[in-house]
Amino acid sequence: MSLIEYKGFGGVPLAADMLGDENDPAVLLVPEVGQGRTAWREVAEALVLSGRRVVNLDLRGDRELAPHIEDLRAVLAQMGSRPVVVAAGRGSWIATRALGLDGAHLAAGLVLVDMPVDEDAVESGVAARLALPTLVVRGGFSPAQDSAASEAFNAALPFGESADINECDLELASDRKEALLGQLLEFLERRQPREAMEFKAGSDPRTLRDAMGCFATGITIVTALDAAGTPVGLTANSFTSVSLDPPLLLVCIANTAGTAPVLRGAAHFGVNVLQIGQQPASNRFAARGEDRFANQPWAPGQTGVPLLGGSLVSFECQRESLHEAGDHFILVGRVVRAQFEPHRDPLLYFRGKYRRLHFA
Ligand SMILES: Cc1cc2nc3c(=O)[nH]c(=O)nc-3n(C[C@H](O)[C@H](O)[C@H](O)COP(=O)(O)O)c2cc1C
Repeated sequence: MSLIEYKGFGGVPLAADMLGDENDPAVLLVPEVGQGRTAWREVAEALVLSGRRVVNLDLRGDRELAPHIEDLRAVLAQMGSRPVVVAAGRGSWIATRALGLDGAHLAAGLVLVDMPVDEDAVESGVAARLALPTLVVRGGFSPAQDSAASEAFNAALPFGESADINECDLELASDRKEALLGQLLEFLERRQPREAMEFKAGSDPRTLRDAMGCFATGITIVTALDAAGTPVGLTANSFTSVSLDPPLLLVCIANTAGTAPVLRGAAHFGVNVLQIGQQPASNRFAARGEDRFANQPWAPGQTGVPLLGGSLVSFECQRESLHEAGDHFILVGRVVRAQFEPHRDPLLYFRGKYRRLHFA
């Protein structure tokens, strides 16, 4: 995240957090008047994880709407691409007026979250001039008794759609924030689609890796003993459960891995599924030149294979079969024993980054 400064109306400096990859489609977050950009922070981080570039803007400390409207137009003109503007509370009033003239030139879409009733926008014709995809998310400031006025606003929008999230405001309980995020992401995917990536047979392996990385996995450390009885192991996320009867699992090991010869010849091996606290172990068992077992608690299983203490689950396997598969080999193991602690949270891996579970 980096802090940047835009020039608002009359040269007034406006601070903003910039998050995410500059090549991703942009979203501009506008807070409720009187609230700073911290109000949007969690939403901003979640949007980045969904492949969006986010500019999280601070408004000037002014109660009048007019300077804010000019500020927003100035910021949009300084942005390199047309963002989707997502505004909260009275920030929505500002955004509708800033975009009610030539909005489609400045922004790719507009999301109004929890906008207080805005009869003036209907009467003045501002709503009717919002010629860009607009999502109205109703919440705590736009309760049921104002529904007629809200309906009039929605009806005036040329490209409008609406969603209802009861009592949604930016002080949301986390389940409400999830509901808002769900609506937001669905709108962004439809109205501001990301450019699809493509891999074709014969093109670069990096793109294929990125495509494969779209499959979220857990992480394991595969272990065995070498001929001298020394423990070896490597980090692997290519783990799959294969069969219940007989109990089989598999991992795919690169032929170039230093541990490959040991794993190819091992009669037994272990697969340790990592929990959230074992990220350092995952790094260590993927890095070259590390003494991987130096600070790693482990104990031999009943077949002697090293099992890592504190894992979510440790499978002890007898080698069932081995299949050559391109630059990897598939090691299939028959589970002889599994020790697990299901109350722990898993360490996850997705698009080249560690992740953690997040329950909606
Ligand atoms: C998250 C993650 C998942 C990985 N999954 C695999 C895998 O499934 N198979 C594999 O051969 N290497 C995998 N690797 C790479 C190995 O851990 C890495 O190349 C390691 O240095 C190999 O160690 P070695 O050469 O000592 O055997 C993975 C690495 C990371 C960080």
